[in-house]
Amino acid sequence: MNLYVDTADVESIERFTRYGILDGVTTNPSIVADDGRSYREVVTSVDAVVDGPVFAQVLAADVDGMVQEGRAYQEWGERVIVKIPATAAGFEALHRLRAAGIPAGITVVFTVEQAVIAAKADATFVAPYVGRMTDAGEDGVGAIERVQSIYDAYGFDTELLAASIRNPRQATECYAAGVDAVTLAPDVLAAHVSSAETEESTAGFQAAWGDRGSPIE
Ligand code: G3P
Repeated sequence: MNLYVDTADVESIERFTRYGILDGVTTNPSIVADDGRSYREVVTSVDAVVDGPVFAQVLAADVDGMVQEGRAYQEWGERVIVKIPATAAGFEALHRLRAAGIPAGITVVFTVEQAVIAAKADATFVAPYVGRMTDAGEDGVGAIERVQSIYDAYGFDTELLAASIRNPRQATECYAAGVDAVTLAPDVLAAHVSSAETEESTAGFQAAWGDRGSPIE
């Protein structure tokens, strides 16, 4: 399973890298706009600290513009994977980029059918928006489960990347579905690492040990 963090924040990336758990970094236009730097600066700075792919999303709405941006992103880093929204133009751009051998996949996925088409079109990955589907009253996790079983049935190679995950419980449901990858906001990933109860119990052990000094002396 690949674990990605959905951020432009290099400090967060370095923190999770120190845990040895990070397989790559995803970004989207909202994250980069909030960061304030250019998309190029974000991608190159992230690429310098992560040992894995950096996902960058095209902004153009037309096919030629998407292809042009995707090709440019690829030049910013060898491990860049182009994210293309699941629009009609997006699928056409995907086909052109994939035919040129550029790693690219489909994002902003809200239906199982979009995920099936993405796999048929040889997308490198597909990113269903679990949280936003759930927010819209849909069964986001159920959609992930159906995509996983369809991909398994047909042997599709496209990486199923669960995105827009709101909390650790939603993440766990995606792990239980056997997804290939998840991307998590830094706060959701941080909440995987520690719990208030763990901190409290650990403090209790330290208090019990008291002033007995180092355990290895
Ligand atoms: O990176 C895409 C996706 O993770 C967006 O998440 O939280 O804006 O729905 P969110």
